[in-house]
Amino acid sequence: MPIADARVLKYAIIGSGMMGLEHIRNLVEMPEVQIVAVCDPHTPSLEKARRALNRMEGVRYFANHVEMLNHCQADVVVIATPNHTHFHIAKDVLKSGKHILIEKPLCITVAECLELEQIEAATTVEDRVVWVGLEYRYMAPTARVKQEIDKGTIGNVQMVSIREHRYPFLEKVDDWNRFNANTGGTLVEKCCHFFDLMCILANSSPVSVMASGSQDVNHLSENYGGRTPDILDNAYVIVNFENGVRGMLDLCMFAEASKNEQEICVVGDKGKIEAMISESIVRIGKRKNGYGTFQDFPIELEEDVVQGFHHGASFKEHRFMQAAIRNRQKAEVGLREGLISVAIGQAAHLSIEQSRLVLISEVLE
Ligand SMILES: NC(=O)c1ccc[n+]([C@@H]2O[C@H](COP(=O)([O-])OP(=O)(O)OC[C@H]3O[C@@H](n4cnc5c(N)ncnc54)[C@H](O)[C@@H]3O)[C@@H](O)[C@H]2O)c1
Repeated sequence: MPIADARVLKYAIIGSGMMGLEHIRNLVEMPEVQIVAVCDPHTPSLEKARRALNRMEGVRYFANHVEMLNHCQADVVVIATPNHTHFHIAKDVLKSGKHILIEKPLCITVAECLELEQIEAATTVEDRVVWVGLEYRYMAPTARVKQEIDKGTIGNVQMVSIREHRYPFLEKVDDWNRFNANTGGTLVEKCCHFFDLMCILANSSPVSVMASGSQDVNHLSENYGGRTPDILDNAYVIVNFENGVRGMLDLCMFAEASKNEQEICVVGDKGKIEAMISESIVRIGKRKNGYGTFQDFPIELEEDVVQGFHHGASFKEHRFMQAAIRNRQKAEVGLREGLISVAIGQAAHLSIEQSRLVLISEVLE
């Protein structure tokens, strides 16, 4: 792809906890990129950033994002702070006119996501890229599933199921991820990734959601200033799409005794394709005269991709975003995709709360 603008892109990072450090580790491997500022009010997080940057010259450190925005010459700002802070920080960064990569979930409610969308729609900044960190679509096995679907390998897609069976939520700075009020709820916080994947694999928009779930095992004996965490740790979520495709999420967060953290299975009228993410295998099956044959394909990561914690997906996300900036294109994963993935999660929580099918239109109002 021809690059319209090959200037060095200057980055500022807001939030240097686990995910902020992953972004820093990706960016330092890219020669056409320079990190100019990092901001975090938590001194140990800032110190980790200093170490990850090997005390590189020319990087400025701040405790407050407004001060940082006023005093650094960044082209791109990465927001990797706790979910409940995304909305107000994103509003400030949108005003600054800089390109933005905002971590998932875009915000903790649909209302906040809609407001950001409105602010951006009214902007006078030209060719600004606002990208949402839903990078699971760039994991190599997931990307292969999408390619095979697009090639017609399994015919017309009918069902998309995604299983995430994993370890409980990790500990975070100030334990922000133990309460729905900070995360938006597990089905927003964590599962926006899977709802985004469902949308692209179904190649359609969600219409309604039905879910069952609760907090049965994890964090029940933890105590934070007299409060017990209230976050759901297992759920089934069914999503109906406009084109008739049915999606299903099977989430269990006390299932670290699993070979694969994620398994994706898409069935069409001509066959079935599965991705075992931890094993990095894609299995393609074809139907013929009432029988089926299948073949496994080991999926290798490209050599120039930094593996990181997300199988190289967050590294590729940066590459794609940088290409969009340099070529003045729109974000492939923008505010709309961020909003829809939050809307499905919010609808799923409402479905659990009220034991009923919830229309996506209800939560988008
Ligand atoms: N895309 C992914 O796969 C992925 C994976 C993990 C986390 N995340 C997302 O990344 C974000 C950060 O999660 P994390 O796991 O790094 O959490 P974390 O607790 O490890 O780090 C968050 C950091 O943000 C800092 N912070 C809090 N308020 C701030 C503010 N106002 N300004 C600047 N810094 C501030 C905290 O001090 C902390 O250092 C969350 O939105 C989370 O959902 C995304």
